[in-house]
Amino acid sequence: MAEKYKVVVVGMGKRGMHHATAFQANPRFEVAGICEIDKARLDDAAAKLGVSVKGTDAAEVAKTVRPDIFCFCTLPNIRASMVRIGIESGARLIAMEKPIALTSAEGFEVRDLLGKSGIKAVVSHQHRYGEHYRKVGELVASGALGRIHTVYGTATGWMMHMLSHLVDYLRWYSGEPEAEWVMAQAAGRGKLTDIHPSPDYIAGFIHFANGVHGVIECGAGAPDVPEVDYWWRKCRIGAQGTDGFAEVLTGGGWRAVTKDGPYSGGGSMNYDLDMPPYIQEMADWLDDENKVHACNFASAYKGFEIMMAFCRSAAEGGQVALPLSTPADEIALLRRSVPDRKVMLAIPSSAKEYPA
Ligand SMILES: NC(=O)c1ccc[n+]([C@@H]2O[C@H](COP(=O)([O-])OP(=O)(O)OC[C@H]3O[C@@H](n4cnc5c(N)ncnc54)[C@H](O)[C@@H]3O)[C@@H](O)[C@H]2O)c1
Repeated sequence: MAEKYKVVVVGMGKRGMHHATAFQANPRFEVAGICEIDKARLDDAAAKLGVSVKGTDAAEVAKTVRPDIFCFCTLPNIRASMVRIGIESGARLIAMEKPIALTSAEGFEVRDLLGKSGIKAVVSHQHRYGEHYRKVGELVASGALGRIHTVYGTATGWMMHMLSHLVDYLRWYSGEPEAEWVMAQAAGRGKLTDIHPSPDYIAGFIHFANGVHGVIECGAGAPDVPEVDYWWRKCRIGAQGTDGFAEVLTGGGWRAVTKDGPYSGGGSMNYDLDMPPYIQEMADWLDDENKVHACNFASAYKGFEIMMAFCRSAAEGGQVALPLSTPADEIALLRRSVPDRKVMLAIPSSAKEYPA
C-alpha cells in the first residue's frame, strides 16, 4: 500500500481549514496535528477534524508529530519563522500560503532556508486547477494561439491578496520564463496599513526573457470584469498569440478565438474543486521526484520577485532588473513614497474596499 503522509497544519482560519479538510479527505494523508493561537478556534477545528494532537505553539506540535508535511496558513506577517520550524521538524515538504513574504528581505531568507535544507516546498496558487484556468493553459500549450507575445492580468483586490496569483498565472501562460525587468506605478495609501499591506492600486509591465510582455493592474484602479458579479473574482488573465487569444475570468469561465473560430466555456474559482488536486500533487511529488508540483516554490519564487520588483519600481521609479540582487523592505519603501492622495477608482463597487 502507498505510504500515508503525516501532516501538521498551522493556522486554523479560513485557509487552514480548507487545507486540513482537503488533506483529511485524501487517503494518502493524515492530519496528525494542528496548531492555532486562538484557543476556541483550535478546539473547534480539532473536534471538526478529529485530530488529537493540538496546540498553540507550532514548534511544539511539529516536534511531537514529526510530520512528513508541514503546512502553514498563517497571515502573511509570519513566514520565515514558520519555514524554519518546518525544516527543524524534519518534514519532507513545506506547504505555505501565498504571498511568500511581505518583503524581498524575508523572501530571500525563505528562499535560502529552503535552498540550504533541500526540502521541497509548494505555494498555494491553487486557482490554476480550475477547469477554466486549465483550459486556457491547454490552449496556450497546444500552439492554437501561435507564438504567445503578450500576457495580461487584472484584479480589483489589492496587491498582497491578488498580485501573487496574477503573476503566477501570467508566468504559466507565458511558458514560465525568466523575467528580465519590470516597471510599475502605485497610488493610494489606504491599504499600506492592512494585514496584507499594499498600495491601493499598482500597475506595471513585465518583460520576459522569451520576448513575452506582461501587463498587470491590481487594486482600486483595475478595470471592471462586467461578466463577473462577485467583486473578489473580478480578475481577467489572458494570453495573446500570433494566431489568437484566450482568457480566463476567475469567476466567469473562459473564452478564446483561434484560427478555427471562437470558443468559450464555464468554470468559476471554487476551493472545493481546486484544493483536492493541489493536495494530491504533494503526494505525487513525494512519491516520485520527477512529478514536480505545479505550484513548486522555485516557480512561485520567481513570481514573488516580480511582485517585489513592481514595488521597488513604483517606489523608486524606472525599470528594475531581475533577478533581484539585494534585499529590501519594499513596504517601507512604498510607505515613504506613495503620494498622500486619495486613490481614484475604476468602478463604484470598489468604493467599499477603498473608502475616501
Ligand atoms: N490561496 C488562496 O486562494 C488564498 C485565499 C485567501 C487567503 N489566502 C492567504 O492565506 C493566508 C491565511 O489567510 P486566511 O484568510 O486563512 O486568514 P485567517 O485570519 O482566516 O487565518 C489565519 C489564522 O492563523 C492564526 N495564526 C496567526 N499566527 C499564528 C501562529 N503563530 N501560530 C498558529 N496560528 C496562528 C490566526 O489566529 C488565524 O486563525 C494569508 O497569507 C492569505 O493571503 C490565500
